[in-house]
Amino acid sequence: MKNYIDVAILAAKEAGKIHKKYFNTDLTIKTKKASFDLVTVADIEAEEKVVSVIRDNFSDHNFLGEEAKYKKTDSEYTWIIDPLDGTNNFAYGLPIFSCSIALVINNQPIVGVVYDPIRDELFSAEKGKGACLNNQKLKVTDAKTLKESLLITGFYYNRGKEMFENLEKIKRFFLEHIIGLRRLGSAALDLCYVACGRASGFWEFELNPWDFAAGILIVGESGGKVTGRHGEKISMEKSFIVASNAKIHDKMLEILK
Ligand code: IPD
Ligand code: CA
Ligand code: CA
Repeated sequence: MKNYIDVAILAAKEAGKIHKKYFNTDLTIKTKKASFDLVTVADIEAEEKVVSVIRDNFSDHNFLGEEAKYKKTDSEYTWIIDPLDGTNNFAYGLPIFSCSIALVINNQPIVGVVYDPIRDELFSAEKGKGACLNNQKLKVTDAKTLKESLLITGFYYNRGKEMFENLEKIKRFFLEHIIGLRRLGSAALDLCYVACGRASGFWEFELNPWDFAAGILIVGESGGKVTGRHGEKISMEKSFIVASNAKIHDKMLEILK
């Protein structure tokens, strides 16, 4: 039997092949609940492929995926899958998206893989064993202040009052003279970019477990920190996510609380 991380990598790379097959082709784009929440054939096909690769190896495990519902089994293992994180970018031909796969037990991820097929960048982590980008060990930045920090945020699909609250928070961060703020459009990659030091912090008001399950393990295993907006531990439900290099975490929480 293969080990969990190898299967996760295999599945993520298969998803990447599907992304590349459809990227920049004439796609039918459908909308979900909101007019700006998009889904394409690539999302659906990639999820089917990921689940089938994992099921071939671990037939009794549970699945939580963004695009489909799965029958519950007795297993304590759950694979949490975002087959295509960054669908809006994908649909517009903007090459920033990924596939995110995590294996979770007792509400905590033990394996996490995020694959960006455009750059052929594979972020991976196993609990207690550190995190890698391809074969390179990851490390968060050394920034100790917000003034030294490049940050990332995201805007979730609910355009309600939290959206406006986030705009206020952004203002507060700029008043602290941050280096800059990015909105890249794939929360899974946003977290990996904190893990590998391309940014010092990331926050988003509301993410689903499939957006963050792999990424939060990768950040933690790179020496970073991930909590909710009040410093609480993250569980596998819709969550406010604050991720950082650990050193600026309290400063971020102070603004975001
Ligand atoms: C979205 C992306 C985006 C984030 C949204 C997510 P999707 O996932 O991660 O960066 O801001 O909140 O829903 O819909 O492209 O899988
Ligand atoms: Ca997502
Ligand atoms: Ca998705």
